[in-house]
Amino acid sequence: MTLTSSPAWQALLRHRDSLRQTRVAFDDVARLKTFDIAFDGLRLNYAFQNVSAETLPLLVALAAQQQVPDWRARMFKGDKINATENRAALHTALRRLDDAPVFLDAIDVMPEVRAAQNRISAFVDDVRTGKWTGATGKPFRAIVNIGIGGSDLGPRLAAKALQPYASGFETHFVANADAFDIADVLRKVDPAQTLFVVVSKTFTTQETLLNAHSARRWLVEKLGEGAVERHFVAVSVNRDAVEAFGIHAENMFPMWDWVGGRYSLWSAVGLSVGLAIGNDNFRALLAGAASMDAHFQTAPLVSNMPVVLALLGIWNRNFLGASALAILPYCERLRDLPRYLQQLEMESNGKSVTRGGEATGYATAPVLFGDCGTISQHSFHQCLHQGTDIIPADFIGVATDDLNQPDHHRALLSNMAAQMGALALGRKQAAKPQDVYAGGRPSNLILLDKLDPYRLGMLLALYEHKTFVQSVIWDINAFDQPGVELGKQMAKSLENSHSTDGAGDIMGQFFRMIFP
Ligand code: F6P
Repeated sequence: MTLTSSPAWQALLRHRDSLRQTRVAFDDVARLKTFDIAFDGLRLNYAFQNVSAETLPLLVALAAQQQVPDWRARMFKGDKINATENRAALHTALRRLDDAPVFLDAIDVMPEVRAAQNRISAFVDDVRTGKWTGATGKPFRAIVNIGIGGSDLGPRLAAKALQPYASGFETHFVANADAFDIADVLRKVDPAQTLFVVVSKTFTTQETLLNAHSARRWLVEKLGEGAVERHFVAVSVNRDAVEAFGIHAENMFPMWDWVGGRYSLWSAVGLSVGLAIGNDNFRALLAGAASMDAHFQTAPLVSNMPVVLALLGIWNRNFLGASALAILPYCERLRDLPRYLQQLEMESNGKSVTRGGEATGYATAPVLFGDCGTISQHSFHQCLHQGTDIIPADFIGVATDDLNQPDHHRALLSNMAAQMGALALGRKQAAKPQDVYAGGRPSNLILLDKLDPYRLGMLLALYEHKTFVQSVIWDINAFDQPGVELGKQMAKSLENSHSTDGAGDIMGQFFRMIFP
């Protein structure tokens, strides 16, 4: 039996067809209460989704049929659910509050996790108190995180989101192979007061090594070779490569192959964030994620926030035909959230082969895109309101006005509510046909009481688990990324063959056209 011929899937198709006859009553106020899950300062309201009271139970039946609870248990207990790489996916162990053992190959990983966390927090304290200084004895003022993908997007997002909790340091992020990226940062910082954190799980990623070498040359030019050991630390699993780069093993913080790059903010990959916000705040980030983990593990599927978020996504993607999802944080500090979620969801679930190696035959990850509201309203919202595709959206808002600027805050949140209302309710009567809004365009509200480390941890863990639940329903492995490899290999071989001729093939000729 295939997923699409399964009873739960077929029941949803029938339900979809009957719902199309009736039309959802979005103006029914009771929906606001019925379609709502809230706990610990985070709320998911899905009153503006194209669902009736029957939809969620049918979606939950699909989750049960696909054995979501069983896969969830397997992930938390360290089974090697990333089968193609023969690895566990144990990012949740990094934010455990207790020391209950988590076994991997019959060895408890928690002592190693705690040892790494203790080293990280000691280093953070040393840098923040000025005990660990630069080579000239001056305290650090700038942190430069060099990494890409999961070694960049999470720390970059968290550093900006938690800026009000940061003290004493500016944080900079360098990811692109384009030399402008690193040059732009280096011209802003003082070498004597700059700490470079080179983050690469593999320590083989081309862009990261390029940027790390450029930063190293710059530092050596300014302060001499001896400065490298005070100004460079690394986060990696690859000790040999870190040492070959010239960073001492004692200045390297560990990662593990059982933590995927896009799930790694909670590990030493978050070091730049820890340095900026301090240990207590970083621990609060982990505690928030742990709160979401506990909820995900224990709440009934029908009121389980990540499960429901995942199921609404499946409903829109597989039953209502939506091929994109807009991520719209109405919060400047969450500006990098769309990019972070792009990697999380599209690298995890952008796959068309099942765990068993068959073609899926059904749609998987939608295209994620987004920007900060209200800016996005003045660029692409027209297409959300009246375009030919139905594009569901997640609106992410923060209830507390941290800056005590009620005029700004009211304007921001009113705009968010208005966009959701306009999409769902539309405008049926208008003098010109161009002014008619069909309405019925779905969206979620995700509301944080406050944007603090704890709620940010909850929010990111919410999307991690949403992504995982969708992968289980689609029967794909969320934790590998084989599709990224071919491009990497081709870039390497083109770069290496650049000086040789005889490139008679299409790629050789193409390369010459770009780079004569
Ligand atoms: O883009 C592929 C990828 O492997 C991501 O999954 C990962 O986050 C990124 O590259 C960086 O990898 P690394 O941390 O090994 O440098």
